[in-house]
Amino acid sequence: MSLRLGDIAPDFEQQSSDGPIRFHEWLGDSWGVLFSHPADFTPVCTTELGLTAKLKDAFAERDVKAIALSVDSVDSHLEWIKDINETQNCVVNFPIIADPDRKVSELYGMIHPKADDTHTVRSLFVIDPNKVIRLMITYPASTGRNFNEILRVIDSLQLTDNHKVATPGNWERGEDVVIVPSLQDEEEIKQRFPKGYDKVRHYLRMTPDPKTNWGGE
Ligand code: BEZ
Repeated sequence: MSLRLGDIAPDFEQQSSDGPIRFHEWLGDSWGVLFSHPADFTPVCTTELGLTAKLKDAFAERDVKAIALSVDSVDSHLEWIKDINETQNCVVNFPIIADPDRKVSELYGMIHPKADDTHTVRSLFVIDPNKVIRLMITYPASTGRNFNEILRVIDSLQLTDNHKVATPGNWERGEDVVIVPSLQDEEEIKQRFPKGYDKVRHYLRMTPDPKTNWGGE
């Protein structure tokens, strides 16, 4: 059965570039981003891992741990990390799971045989501190992911977990949000959104972003 949003992210033990990993234990109470790439020593993957390394502070600010995966070996990962650091001018500061037996790839449905029957596609899972899968995206091998988009979705998830709002298309931190349609009690709305709201339609009520201290700003 394929994984869906709301499922518990399957736990596993596997080797990685940082040694053996027990996934749930490794996640601890943090959010996680688990992402697969087709193979080591490939150009697009090299840029993706470099980008992830450079976003270290952005991930840390959101309490997110990143972890990559491919079906290559630990030795291959360790050699490749040297190349990533050199070519992308970064320090890879997160583990890369070595999955030559495809244990994790199969658990997470990262191999799409009609795209490639031996390598993982670009799957990405955002996992919350309760180990629940909150975002799943799948990109083809030829398209590198937009990691700013991943951060944007995590911002939205962390905001909407704490406030009765949802975020509109292309929303970014600090921009107006929508009040969830299930919230109808005017007193509660006043209490939760003291800056007021704009009733564009009965189902579309815009209000300023209730979180004012993004990134401790
Ligand atoms: C890459 O990461 O560059 C890549 C991997 C597989 C197919 C095409 C590109």
